[in-house]
Amino acid sequence: MDLGSIRRVYDNSGLSRDTLNPDPIIQFEHWFNEALETDIKDPSAMSLATANKQGEVSLRTVLLKIYDQQGFVFFTNYESTKSRHIAENPNVALLFPWLDQDRQIKIVGQASRVPTSESLKYFMSRPRGSQLGAWVSEQSSVISSRTLLMSKLEEIKKRFADGDISLPEFWGGYRVKPTSIEFWQGQPDRLHDRFLYQQQDDMSWTISRLAP
Ligand SMILES: Cc1cc2nc3c(=O)[nH]c(=O)nc-3n(C[C@H](O)[C@H](O)[C@H](O)COP(=O)(O)O)c2cc1C
Repeated sequence: MDLGSIRRVYDNSGLSRDTLNPDPIIQFEHWFNEALETDIKDPSAMSLATANKQGEVSLRTVLLKIYDQQGFVFFTNYESTKSRHIAENPNVALLFPWLDQDRQIKIVGQASRVPTSESLKYFMSRPRGSQLGAWVSEQSSVISSRTLLMSKLEEIKKRFADGDISLPEFWGGYRVKPTSIEFWQGQPDRLHDRFLYQQQDDMSWTISRLAP
C-alpha cells in the first residue's frame, strides 16, 4: 500500500531560541505541562530504546514517573529484556511523541537503577492490582498461556492475603541521566524547528539549532 499521499500541514506556533529556557529540564517541564493541558492520551508515555553489548537494539513504551534535575525515572522488571540490555550497556534514548502538538522530545543519556528506597516509595503508591501484577509477571519470558498468569495471580493473592504487598527484589526504577535533549516543533513546508541541548563537562548546557 502506498501511503505517500498521507500528509499534514504543521501549523502550530514555532520554537525560537529566545523563548527557550536555558535549562532543558525547565523547558521539558513547560512542554510537559502543555501536553497535560492538551487532551492527549498518556503524555507520560515514552519510547525507550536500548542496545545490548552486541549492538542488538530494542524499543518499547514505558511511563515516565518522576523527572527532575537528576533525570527521568521509569519503573520495570529488573530481569526484563530492557534491564538486561541496560546491564550490558547503560546508553539509552527516550522519545516523547506528542504528535497532537506537532512536538517530539528526544533524550539521550545513561540509565542506572534508582535506590531501593525510591522504588519502594513508588511501589507502595501503586494500586494493589499493579503490585500483584509485578509479582506475577516474569516480564519478557516466554509463557505457555494466560492461564498460567491467572493461576500465579491466585497464588500471589493468597501469599499476601493478610497485608501489604512487599517490593519484589526483581522490580524497581531506572533513572536516565540526560546528556542531550532535543526539542522538535513541526512547522510548515517541513522546515521544522529543532533545538539540541548538550551537556558540557562543567554540567552547563549548550543550545544549538539543528536543520530539520
Ligand atoms: C502505554 C504503555 C505503557 C507502558 N508502561 C510500562 C512501564 O512503565 N514499565 C514497563 O516495564 N513496561 C511498560 N509497558 C510495557 C512495555 O512496552 C514492554 O512491553 C515491557 O516493558 C517489556 O519490554 P522488554 O521485553 O523490552 O523489557 C508499557 C506499554 C505501553 C503500551
